[in-house]
Amino acid sequence: MTTDILDESRRRRTFAVISHPDAGKSTLTEALALHAKVLSSAGAVHGKGERRGVTSDWLEMERARGISITSAALQFSFGDTVINLLDTPGHADFSEDTYRVLSAVDSAVMLLDAAKGLEPQTLKLFDVCRYRGIPVITFINKWDRPGLSPLELCEELSERINLRPMPLTWPVGIAGDFKGVLDLRTDQMVRYQRTAGGATAAPEEFLDAATAAEAAGEDWQRALEESELQVSDGGEFKLDQFLDASATPVVFGAAMLNFGVKHLLDLLVELAPGPVPRVDVQERERPIEAPFSAFVFKVQTGMDRAHRDQVAFARVCSGRFDRGMTVTNATTGRPFATKYVQQVFGQQRSTVDIAYPGDVIGLVNATALRVGDTLYEGKPPVKFPGLPSFAPAHFAVARPKDLGRAKQFRKGVDQLESEGVIQVLRSDRRGDGTPVFAAVGPMQFEVASHRLDGEFGVAVDLQNLPYRTVRRLRDPAQRNVIEASRRGEVLTRTDGADLALFTDEVALGTVLRQHDGLALEHLVAGTD
Ligand code: G4P
Repeated sequence: MTTDILDESRRRRTFAVISHPDAGKSTLTEALALHAKVLSSAGAVHGKGERRGVTSDWLEMERARGISITSAALQFSFGDTVINLLDTPGHADFSEDTYRVLSAVDSAVMLLDAAKGLEPQTLKLFDVCRYRGIPVITFINKWDRPGLSPLELCEELSERINLRPMPLTWPVGIAGDFKGVLDLRTDQMVRYQRTAGGATAAPEEFLDAATAAEAAGEDWQRALEESELQVSDGGEFKLDQFLDASATPVVFGAAMLNFGVKHLLDLLVELAPGPVPRVDVQERERPIEAPFSAFVFKVQTGMDRAHRDQVAFARVCSGRFDRGMTVTNATTGRPFATKYVQQVFGQQRSTVDIAYPGDVIGLVNATALRVGDTLYEGKPPVKFPGLPSFAPAHFAVARPKDLGRAKQFRKGVDQLESEGVIQVLRSDRRGDGTPVFAAVGPMQFEVASHRLDGEFGVAVDLQNLPYRTVRRLRDPAQRNVIEASRRGEVLTRTDGADLALFTDEVALGTVLRQHDGLALEHLVAGTD
């Protein structure tokens, strides 16, 4: 059993693709799955034409806005390896959600558009990876189109995010005239052939240096010279620096044409780390082969309108999961029977009977589970650290338009709060019936009001509050000091934290200057 668990865990690669919207994340996901056997169900990833409607975008709003908010995991096998690809929402307003997903991966692929390089959302997501020490492989996409030079792109990585680029391939042919890549580890040229619309895996030919020089002439020569320059300028590949997240292997490709995608998968198998023991709240490592443990990183309802269900997504950290086993929820100490367990990607679902460390299981109708909860089997108990809430920067008072629906309103708000769609703040002054929604980005409000309306039949009025700066108030007795200053307001979050809200840093500074000894702290180090 123990060897079974260790062997299975070693075969796992659990990662997410992080990118700015439009860099090609959906295209790459499809291309990756094309090279692999999708385990959950055939056809989980659809052709491009239907894509936006049927894969990971299921809420109407997502379709309307062309964004992906909800996220789940796609599992597929590639050779002997089991790949778990976790989907992250692309929009900055959902960075808290993305952060939670990234807490469940062992590595990430940073996807860049060759013409744009590092974009705002890539930078933010990368910061999260750095904060969590997640090793990152960089895939420079859209090389079939004109873009920046490979040297410029490498320079961006080292200059702007202080991440040492270690190219493993180098494009042969400038962006827009992409012939293939120089594989820096074999000194061969990998020549790609186009297939209609990239609909099938692109055939690859491997040319030795002499043949490549003949076939690609100046382009080959340039690839040799430029890559040598980069490698000698500190770009030599070092596995330990990839694993400690101080450097990133870089490869070039075109997801749409399926160029370089197989190589990316090969690298994930070869270089990316598998699951490692997770550290619990007492700072002890939970061995991979210990009895089953997992933590919930995402709760989602309303994915299937026909069933109105709720799915809690948990990442397995140790042991073997067998459907039907009874586990304990460390937060409540209560037992939890795992009868309905699924893998979910977009609208595709399939039952999961067995899962190993690195896998993601979707616990259906797990209404008792909240984001951050730990599940475990047997004794002694284990609890992993909760997932931090981000510092909100947008606040709005919420009230039902029809006061007769106050009960449904309360139920809906509780639900959205437990899923982490929004944070909910209350105060005696404002009253229980008019909570304040708090969000990292305003689009979270849109989602909340859309869902309250669609799923709970409550139309809501949202009145924006002018606050942008938030701190945690350590001593509740100091609440009056802030309220009396008339420059801020104190509200209590559902987790019990007292949050002091100010219009801006200037207002905060004034209050601090006037009141010595006022104890205010940042919400989460590294995330606000
Ligand atoms: P996202 O999920 O990161 O938002 O990006 P998505 O895959 O939707 O890709 C964004 C656009 O970039 C799409 O074009 C897609 O076809 C294009 N794209 C992705 N990979 C490549 C590539 O390797 N080369 C080129 N030239 N284009 C690529 P679109 O016009 O927005 O959509 P569509 O009409 O093609 O679906």
